[in-house]
Amino acid sequence: MASFSVNPVFLQTVLVLLLFHLFCLSNNIAAKHGDPVHHRHRSQPHSLGSNTRLYRAYIALQAWKRVIYSDPRNFTSNWVGRNVCAYHGIYCTNAPDDPKVKVVAGIDLNFGDIAGFIPEEFGLLTDVALVHLNSNRFCGLLPQDIANLTLLHELDLSNNRFVGGFPSMVLSLPSLKFLDLRYNEFEGPTPPQLYEKQLDAIFINNNRFTSVFPSFNGKGSASVLVVANNKFGGCLPPSIANFADSLEELLLINTSLKGCLPPEIGYLYNLRLLDVSNNTIVGPIPYSVAGMAHLETLNLANNMMSGIVPAGVCVLPNLINFNLSNNFFCDEDLVCTNLTSKKGVVFDDRRNCLPHRPAQKSPEECAPVIEHPVDCYEECCVPGGDSVSVPTASPKFLPFMASSTPMLPPFIAPVSA
Ligand SMILES: *[C@@H]1O[C@H](CO)[C@@H](O)[C@H](O)[C@H]1NC(C)=O
Ligand SMILES: *[C@@H]1O[C@H](CO)[C@@H](O)[C@H](O)[C@H]1NC(C)=O
Ligand SMILES: *[C@@H]1O[C@H](CO)[C@@H](O)[C@H](O)[C@H]1NC(C)=O
Ligand SMILES: *[C@@H]1O[C@H](CO)[C@@H](O)[C@H](O)[C@H]1NC(C)=O
Ligand SMILES: *[C@@H]1O[C@H](CO)[C@@H](O)[C@H](O)[C@H]1NC(C)=O
Ligand SMILES: *[C@@H]1O[C@H](CO)[C@@H](O)[C@H](O)[C@H]1NC(C)=O
Repeated sequence: MASFSVNPVFLQTVLVLLLFHLFCLSNNIAAKHGDPVHHRHRSQPHSLGSNTRLYRAYIALQAWKRVIYSDPRNFTSNWVGRNVCAYHGIYCTNAPDDPKVKVVAGIDLNFGDIAGFIPEEFGLLTDVALVHLNSNRFCGLLPQDIANLTLLHELDLSNNRFVGGFPSMVLSLPSLKFLDLRYNEFEGPTPPQLYEKQLDAIFINNNRFTSVFPSFNGKGSASVLVVANNKFGGCLPPSIANFADSLEELLLINTSLKGCLPPEIGYLYNLRLLDVSNNTIVGPIPYSVAGMAHLETLNLANNMMSGIVPAGVCVLPNLINFNLSNNFFCDEDLVCTNLTSKKGVVFDDRRNCLPHRPAQKSPEECAPVIEHPVDCYEECCVPGGDSVSVPTASPKFLPFMASSTPMLPPFIAPVSA
């Protein structure tokens, strides 16, 4: 079988190479004299398909190479000649829509330390499904033509030097599922459409995003949302509950969040990890958190939260790491205190205002906060970041806010302690 197929494959390769030459020549000739080689192409549909698609990739990659100014690991040194499938970091497969045709389906230049730009011609790589450019020094704006990559499934631009506003052209990519923009210098607000897009994972941490976390109407689909180390300001909007069916990890560390946590946070019934540490969040832990049966890690450290730590949170069946240090909590149930000695559980309640607990804040530090309890109705934020006195939640959510016992939405499975 193998020996039988060697010759035809070899011949086909030669043919393809020849056709590449003809195609190029014909482009010049065609420009001047019409289209003399079109019939020849028509008799070789598969070679032509491969030819055209790989040729477009060749044009794109050569344009890209021209705007690469430093490549210390020589990743692009062998980006010469038409055989783009042999280029370092370029992966070809058979086209999904035409299995006889090879196309560039993946680009992986992770940890290349390459400095340069992404040119408009990148938009010619319409067969790519994966683009991984983690840990390089690509800079400047992302080209608008990235929107042409209709098959792009994973876009990892993390740890580069991209600038500009949120690259909203990625929002029109119909196949995109994984978006990683972390550790760049994107700035300005993030659009609500980002949270509504049907993505599996969103990483936008360590950028210069500002403005509030926007309210959004659509249903989110991400299981991981990492926003940490940006300068959002404002409050977490109640619409975070639109991620209820999907979200498992929500990291909002050091995002300049203020105001109270919305009770709707408890609607994220699949959440395993909630980290809102290092913000200026005030007010109590919403009772709805006691309904988050899958919650394993709850980090509220380094905020200005106050009130009583609800027993319902401390008995969450999967909770193994609960850090509420450096807040203004003034009381906690004995069942919480007991977490200190529970095997396999990390519990940190230091630097609060808890009577009879070690390593607390001084009464002088605690008094001003404890004497002025926060009214979350007053603290509710609207998009724009200003406080308003009218709660934005619909009336059926209100019992949570007022009641002193956990009231769980009907779709949250009862906690089996
Ligand atoms: C890259 O190529 C240059 C020139 O050929 C060579 O001096 C250098 O050692 C190469 N670097 C690596 C990491 O291979
Ligand atoms: C991207 O698509 C637009 C609209 O179809 C087109 O005008 C543009 O030339 C394409 N860009 C590339 C690099 O192919
Ligand atoms: C916190 O976020 C700010 C941006 O708002 C950033 O400058 C700072 O480095 C972050 N802190 C840490 C410890 O990452
Ligand atoms: C959180 O704050 C603490 C204390 O201010 C600081 O040491 C730590 O680096 C911060 N972490 C982040 C991720 O902001
Ligand atoms: C709780 O968070 C604080 C602040 O980030 C940190 O210093 C402390 O080590 C954490 N506690 C535990 C037990 O991890
Ligand atoms: C707390 O722990 C003590 C000693 O282990 C135990 O006697 C008590 O019942 C526990 N209380 C709660 C509320 O879990």
